[in-house]
Amino acid sequence: MRANIFSFCYRFTRFIVTKTLYFFQAILFKPKDLEPAVKLGDSVLSTISFVGTPFFNFPLPTYQDVEVFDLIFPSPLIGSSFKSETSILNIWLKMGLGGLIFKTILKNPRNGNEQPRLQDAYLDGEAGLLNSMGLPGPGIDSFAQAITQSKLWKYNRPLGISIGGDSYKEYIQNIAKIQDAMLPTSFPFFYEINISCPNTENGGTLGENPKLLNGLLTEIRQGNSTPISVKVSPELSDEKLKQIGDLCRKHEKIFINAGNTHYKKPSEVGIYPNDFSMIGGGFSGPSLFLRTLEMVKIFSEFKIPILATGGISTIHHINAAKQNGAVLFGMATALVLDPYCVPKINSQL
Ligand SMILES: Cc1cc2nc3c(=O)[nH]c(=O)nc-3n(C[C@H](O)[C@H](O)[C@H](O)COP(=O)(O)O)c2cc1C
Repeated sequence: MRANIFSFCYRFTRFIVTKTLYFFQAILFKPKDLEPAVKLGDSVLSTISFVGTPFFNFPLPTYQDVEVFDLIFPSPLIGSSFKSETSILNIWLKMGLGGLIFKTILKNPRNGNEQPRLQDAYLDGEAGLLNSMGLPGPGIDSFAQAITQSKLWKYNRPLGISIGGDSYKEYIQNIAKIQDAMLPTSFPFFYEINISCPNTENGGTLGENPKLLNGLLTEIRQGNSTPISVKVSPELSDEKLKQIGDLCRKHEKIFINAGNTHYKKPSEVGIYPNDFSMIGGGFSGPSLFLRTLEMVKIFSEFKIPILATGGISTIHHINAAKQNGAVLFGMATALVLDPYCVPKINSQL
């Protein structure tokens, strides 16, 4: 009941804030841009969280622990890799996420692409987001220094560190830096390898080159037994997905994150091209779900734990993905559009 009321208030406020912002952007002849509304929303939520208890504190589900290798997730709902601001991640954990994955980190600090690079979007009548953030972030050294001090560890829920790389070598180096930083700690964590970054000499990705991915996993596993999630793009062919499933099962403590954004041009998802700085970006939201389900079915053959990501926002999505073999469920867009889906789903598990 409480979650339903707050959910309505959140969606109503979000609607008013974004429409007001777009109105002012239009009269100032600025392109439409969702990012300032997200930043404003984040600071309002962080302020409210100081007042707190009734707005964000929700119980975890009972008897729904999911064990993946040595990690125990008290809810199967996982915050997908797309944000690293502690204050917001803290709120989502309070609301009942069983774990989360930080935004992908690369070697060097990056500002990402020019704005506007995040917009509300629509596909097949369903709301979603189009982003071409370009992986902004502080760089691996700052991240590695800050991560052991994060107050998010107090929840004792598994946190994922998403590793990207502009080259094969960069993945290895980034993981080594995190491993060194985490060595003195006993926090429950895992790596997520984002294999969608262009990271081979010809500009391809590790996902397109399973042999290279196999080499990477072999090299990481030398002296490192931390669980690894391999995040696989829905845009790979089914044949490639099978090759990846087959190679992942031959390594220890590997699970698959099945799903990610789908590449779309702004005009394909209801955005005026001048309101987007890039030719295209990653579309996310409920209309991704059918492909997510196909991926889960493909990977279930290989008997490795599956985290399903892409389009998940209701208990029906969870039940369908679970029936087909997924044990964990990642969410990004749903957390932006209405984070109260977390307590709602947890209460229905
Ligand atoms: C603004 C934004 C930024 C994202 N950044 C990352 C990222 O840094 N690394 C990553 O692996 N996925 C990233 N994603 C993809 C999400 O983690 C998720 O896989 C995708 O949005 C599909 O799930 P959804 O339909 O629940 O949003 C991002 C998505 C959004 C919307």
